Amino acid sequence: MISGNVIAITSGKGGVGKSTVAVNLALALSRLNKRVAIMDLDIYGFSVPKMLNITDRPKTINNKIIPVGSHGLSVMSTGFMVPGNSPIVWRGPMLGRMVEHFFKDVIWGQLDYVILDMPPGTGDVALDLNHMLPECKEIIVTTPHPTATHVAERAGTMAQNTNHDILGVIENMAYFEPPIENAEKYYLFGKGGGEALAKTLETNVLASLPMAVPNENGEVPIIYDETSNLFPHYNDLASQIDRLFIKQAAIN
Ligand SMILES: Nc1ncnc2c1ncn2[C@@H]1O[C@H](COP(=O)(O)OP(=O)(O)OP(=O)(O)O)[C@@H](O)[C@H]1O
Ligand SMILES: [Mg+2]
Repeated sequence: MISGNVIAITSGKGGVGKSTVAVNLALALSRLNKRVAIMDLDIYGFSVPKMLNITDRPKTINNKIIPVGSHGLSVMSTGFMVPGNSPIVWRGPMLGRMVEHFFKDVIWGQLDYVILDMPPGTGDVALDLNHMLPECKEIIVTTPHPTATHVAERAGTMAQNTNHDILGVIENMAYFEPPIENAEKYYLFGKGGGEALAKTLETNVLASLPMAVPNENGEVPIIYDETSNLFPHYNDLASQIDRLFIKQAAIN
């Protein structure tokens, strides 16, 4: 089985930034010298290999899989399991087998953190996960807009029903802050949605992350390095999460 603290990044709705949070949180934890794996369980729209620019495929030894190493992370993706970019129709039991496969047949080595990029919604994968990894913790990503929050709530309620601990809520794309001195914050998608969701789920807002500022070429980065306005936010988030687990380990 797999070692380390398992954190599932979920949301009720697509496109709120789950994969972005999963990858950048994994990288930020790795900057804290933690051994980190990222598992892309989004069968419908796997995106982690592309985000990390991975062209390699995992190797197998004696029917065991060696995850792909990238940016200091160990990576497995449902995308590695399909030829090319071809979309496939996954049926419930296949999803379950895939998740099981990733947990049982991959040689992960010793890990501190395992970050799971979940598909949108509360489908089969979430259910399988609840069954296989009762100790898995969840982070719910939402945008500050009340509608997005409403849907994210479902994911949270699901986590509660299955007794998964919710680590907290991340409000993504919370505001835009132009890269000038004394800039005003622009709350493009409304305000307060993260707080409201956290209150409903009886948890906290771990971070309220701004929009990524385009780089000098006008491109919006996907991975946030030290040149990005999001770099310090993710460093803070990773430290906060690491402290939560250290505290919890001390209690147990
Ligand atoms: N803070 C941010 N600032 C600017 N762009 C962002 C931010 N967070 C995410 N994005 C962009 O929003 C888009 C959706 O993000 P992402 O793919 O991470 O969402 P998702 O929830 O994983 O989506 P899906 O449900 O399709 O898997 C991407 O183009 C991503 O680069
Ligand atoms: Mg995604």
